[in-house]
Amino acid sequence: MNRTLIALLCLTAVFATRILQHECVHDDIAETFKYDVQDLNLDDDANRRLQGTAPRNIKITYDMSFFNNLNMTDPVNVAFKQNSEKALKVALQYFSDLLTIVPKPAGAMKWNLGPTCGLVTVPDADKTTDKDSDLHLYISYTDEPTKTFLAYAGWCRFLRVLGPSHGTVNFNLGLLRNYQFSNPIVFNDLVQIVTHEITHVLGFSGNDVQYWVNSAKQPHVNPTSVQLIRGLNSTVLQTPNVQAYARQYYGCPNLAGMLFENQGGAGSAGSHWETTVINNEYMNAAISLTQGFFSKFTTSLLRDTGFYSSVNAALEEPTFYGKDAGCTFVTGACDTNKREYCSAGTQKCDYYYYAVSACNPTTFSDVGCNNQQAYSNAKCYEPNGNFQNNPTYIQKLGVGFGQSSRCFISSLSDPTVSINEQGLCYNYTCNSANQVIIQVGSNQVTCSQNNQVVTIPNWRGSLKCPEKLDQFCNYKKVCPNFCSSNGYCDNGVCKCISGFKGADCSQTA
Ligand SMILES: *[C@@H]1O[C@H](CO)[C@@H](O)[C@H](O)[C@H]1NC(C)=O
Ligand SMILES: *[C@@H]1O[C@H](CO)[C@@H](O)[C@H](O)[C@H]1NC(C)=O
Ligand SMILES: *[C@@H]1O[C@H](CO)[C@@H](O)[C@H](O)[C@H]1NC(C)=O
Ligand SMILES: [Zn+2]
Repeated sequence: MNRTLIALLCLTAVFATRILQHECVHDDIAETFKYDVQDLNLDDDANRRLQGTAPRNIKITYDMSFFNNLNMTDPVNVAFKQNSEKALKVALQYFSDLLTIVPKPAGAMKWNLGPTCGLVTVPDADKTTDKDSDLHLYISYTDEPTKTFLAYAGWCRFLRVLGPSHGTVNFNLGLLRNYQFSNPIVFNDLVQIVTHEITHVLGFSGNDVQYWVNSAKQPHVNPTSVQLIRGLNSTVLQTPNVQAYARQYYGCPNLAGMLFENQGGAGSAGSHWETTVINNEYMNAAISLTQGFFSKFTTSLLRDTGFYSSVNAALEEPTFYGKDAGCTFVTGACDTNKREYCSAGTQKCDYYYYAVSACNPTTFSDVGCNNQQAYSNAKCYEPNGNFQNNPTYIQKLGVGFGQSSRCFISSLSDPTVSINEQGLCYNYTCNSANQVIIQVGSNQVTCSQNNQVVTIPNWRGSLKCPEKLDQFCNYKKVCPNFCSSNGYCDNGVCKCISGFKGADCSQTA
């Protein structure tokens, strides 16, 4: 055989790029707000009426008049305002579907504090008129191109036992002016960030645990503890729902509770889930580089605030990172033989197989606990700008992209080339027996066993099947066209905001 015919393509992801992680500045900002917790002095009558009031889907209202300062002859500002408001609308639809709450008593939504909430001057009308709202948000923007936050949020007025009544969300024009909002994947990331920030307002904050109430409307007894974990003093949240779910999820019956982030300064530590034990969660301190999950950890926390009558379990997104991994996974040293972690070197796929990735530490990784970090130009669900989306990769390696593509560890190539094992994007389907059928060019390979190694006749190399096929087939699906920027994605199914309909929310209703 003539070896010179074999072109040795160096198809490694040296072309792949990483993006800055967007970190949350929630608590940094929170410290600069004038917070006020108020006692509502209800008479017995008002109290009885309140207890007899039926809960409703949470109604979050907003005031965007701050945006009237923008010069609207500049199309960049027009797009910024439009997309900020749309992202807000999608997030508010999500919370309306997620939470029910007993409306506050008459008069309780009247603003009775200082002149501003965050950067926004509170309109006089809000001081004299009550609102048909469960939470009112003043929306602002800043122009800070050198910062890494896209948005931040916090509450300004908080009614003891009842929860937040007024808050603010601030968008960073400095970063968002460069965003390609015509791409629904980019828009979807903004929705994820707004949802994260509003979740803080709703009570997800280390500072707010003291205000949460139990079913008797009393503060929780010992809601947190501090443990030395992997060399760091870590706050453990041990309120009832969170504790029960953490024990069940990790398979550790004596676990004290779920860990809050133990690194990253005031903006991150203590007000997010610990990156080392749960990844890709909406309430991690850095926004997921691929798909985020609003998991049962976060809904359990919202239940433990005591502010909401119900939290819709149907919207909990299943996570698998660390699931059933036992107590040592949560409190012990990281085992880099587990797929959750990695040791430096090879380029593989991220934990959920969404993207080609590399093993790297992040700001929030505990020592020895690096994760596979997705490259920004190598998400298999994103064909645009994907470094593998070129004729060579497509023709010689059979890669594919889109809604039903995932990253597989593979060295498969047609006979004319030879490649190293790496993460490659292929289309796939799962059948009802949780077999994974992978499309490699015009060939199909079937994974019917965990970690099985499969080959294609007359092709070079092999493909390593996912570690747990049953879990793989139940990882969150992305939505058709990412709901066209007109809805949120509920495990592959679009939930459109009012005014839109269709499987991908692309039709006006
Ligand atoms: C508003 O923006 C337009 C377009 O960028 C610019 O020409 C105009 O001078 C701006 N107006 C003001 C008052 O800044
Ligand atoms: C953890 O906290 C304890 C008690 O405050 C302190 O004595 C200890 O030095 C801390 N350890 C670390 C590693 O920060
Ligand atoms: C992968 O699926 C997308 C549609 O989701 C399709 O356009 C593409 O041709 C497929 N690629 C391969 C190699 O099957
Ligand atoms: Zn945050």
